[in-house]
Amino acid sequence: MQINKRFPDSFLWGAATSAYQIEGEHLTHGKTLSVVEKNMNSNYADPSVASGHYQHWEEDIELMRELGLKAYRFSIAWPRILPNGRGEINQEGISFYRHILDKLKAYQIEPIVTIYHFDLPQCLQEEYGGWSSRKVIVDFEEFCEVLFTQFPDVNYWLTINEQSNMFQLPYLMEFAPDVPLEKQKYEMNHIMTLAHAKAVKLCREMLPEAKIGPALGIIPNYPATSKPEDVLAARHADDLRTYLFMDLYMKGEYRSFVWNYLVENGLEPTIERGDMAIIKSAKPDFIGINYYQSRVVKYISAEAEKKELKLNYDGEDDDTQFDNIPGIFEGAANPYTDKTRWDWEIDPIGFRYLLNELYDRYHIPIMITENGIGTLDQVTGDQKIHDQERIDFLNKHLQQLQLAMKDGVEIWGYMAWSFIDLLSTSSGFRKRYGFVYVDRDDHDVKKLERIKKDSFTWYQEVIASNGQYLIDR
Ligand code: BG6
Repeated sequence: MQINKRFPDSFLWGAATSAYQIEGEHLTHGKTLSVVEKNMNSNYADPSVASGHYQHWEEDIELMRELGLKAYRFSIAWPRILPNGRGEINQEGISFYRHILDKLKAYQIEPIVTIYHFDLPQCLQEEYGGWSSRKVIVDFEEFCEVLFTQFPDVNYWLTINEQSNMFQLPYLMEFAPDVPLEKQKYEMNHIMTLAHAKAVKLCREMLPEAKIGPALGIIPNYPATSKPEDVLAARHADDLRTYLFMDLYMKGEYRSFVWNYLVENGLEPTIERGDMAIIKSAKPDFIGINYYQSRVVKYISAEAEKKELKLNYDGEDDDTQFDNIPGIFEGAANPYTDKTRWDWEIDPIGFRYLLNELYDRYHIPIMITENGIGTLDQVTGDQKIHDQERIDFLNKHLQQLQLAMKDGVEIWGYMAWSFIDLLSTSSGFRKRYGFVYVDRDDHDVKKLERIKKDSFTWYQEVIASNGQYLIDR
């Protein structure tokens, strides 16, 4: 592949994780339960051990150094820092993250810290309904203030991970049974956007040198055919699933198609005086993008039955059910792309397409905060993990990222998902993402031995050559 543009020397070659997916010790050492931990799929591993990072963090950072990482994205668990959601600080939690940050700095690995990765303290859910109440904004701001006070040396902050996914993945949030679901989602989305904006503003005041932005999970939508109805359906799907959030973050506005749709369907959130001014005044420094796949959509009539997204959890049967919004769009499989075992469309070109689309619309630097593939990895007789599928996936996506940079898109860094095998939010340890294998399975935690996969060596070469290795292959 002919690509001329070189990666800048400052490019942040990285990898990512999140707290509840790797740490373990989820109800000990002062930590309390979070919503996502409570709602985890009970067929798979629970978060009590996860990857054992709470004990193995030093060994893990040694491996990051060996890999040559320039940056590491991880999240700080709100219920580990503030076990009651607010008030008393768990000093052991502060020390845990302080040690991690110090060791990363010692190895010149830039920490990129996610403030909220799905782990609302369960006590706040029980006290006032979590993200359905404006009380959460005050508590979230307090959490941010604690982080900015305790960790002023962090240069890159991510406010909220995948705000968009609360519309798709039921286990990330809890909803009241007596209020229409869609209505609740848009209310919560508005409240979460306000919380994000408060975090940005507070960061500007307390840490003016730091950079801050959200991390959004984005699936670009393609029309199933060139039928004008399908083309419009894809545009509307993008509006409702991507640009709703992007416009709020970047312009402080509800885009008109979305707002009219909400009003027509009685779904519009409560907007109090001053809300939009706060949101508008908190423009991020950069946008974090989590990209895994694209999607095909087609028009569906208003009379069709409403369907929610149903995931293929076990990676065995082709049983994904796409969601729809009757009268607007329904999802469909793409006949032109390969799929992962879990039916996720593999679409590296979609990555370049999306990056161009976002940069053209918003002219803001982009950081790839997640990109990766879930696979069934096996240790072979030679004690190795030959994860060629991951290497192919990442190589192709990075080539497209490089082409996007050549197209003119400003990209600061790339955090592969994930640094180490972790508890997949949907499918436990069966579905692995890491460069480093963790020897455990869903039902037996074994000794949690770390083993470098083939992709570890591949990424090491990519980083050491500042991306040249991608071109030479
Ligand atoms: C993103 C999340 O949605 O996708 C991660 O930010 C998650 O937490 C990743 O692990 C992959 O999804 P899954 O369901 O395969 O773990």
